[in-house]
Amino acid sequence: ALYPVLAAVAAYLVGSLSFAVMVSRAMGLGDPRSYGSGNPGATNVLRSGSKAAAIVTLLLDAAKGWLPVALVRWFGGPWGLGEGTVALVGLAAFLGHLYPVFFRFQGGKGVATALGVLLGVDWLLGLAVVLVWLAVVAAMRYSSLASLVAAAFAPFIYLLGAGAAWDADTPVAAAIAAMAVLLAWRHRGNIRRLVEGQEPRLGKKR
Ligand code: G3P
Repeated sequence: ALYPVLAAVAAYLVGSLSFAVMVSRAMGLGDPRSYGSGNPGATNVLRSGSKAAAIVTLLLDAAKGWLPVALVRWFGGPWGLGEGTVALVGLAAFLGHLYPVFFRFQGGKGVATALGVLLGVDWLLGLAVVLVWLAVVAAMRYSSLASLVAAAFAPFIYLLGAGAAWDADTPVAAAIAAMAVLLAWRHRGNIRRLVEGQEPRLGKKR
């Protein structure tokens, strides 16, 4: 079990790169932990006024979830790494984003990184979940609500597509469900604001 553990540690370290903070720093913007929701994520970086920084943050935070999954998928076979390790590294990268070792364990909410993991599992799965996110944003203009709904749908979409669009298996299903639960937990402040009608809509600064 040495290789799966090494792969998970590597994925956790990659996940710990808080690109919202790093990209903002590199682009001379303020620290996203100091304004808006205080969350180091693409949505909050957007509140700095820089769409470019938000998009780069989104892409890099997604890439760090995608990469470990894709690497295990492509090259894991000869090392004995299968679907169990795919689930493990995906979850590890996600946990790195939530609890980054390089940023005092104060990370983000995991939306972009979870999406990256889903895209790594199967790009159609990622696309389906993105469409759910976009539909909710189009209707309601809340990034957080869209993320919560998309995350809630993800395990069911994964199981529904099993055998048709992709091969599903238990460890990956469990990892997707675990990410959804953790993602909801990290959005508990957003959930309270949504209930109280205090959540800012996308495109509005606060
Ligand atoms: O789902 C997007 C989520 O990360 C919300 O971010 O900054 O609005 O709390 P924020």
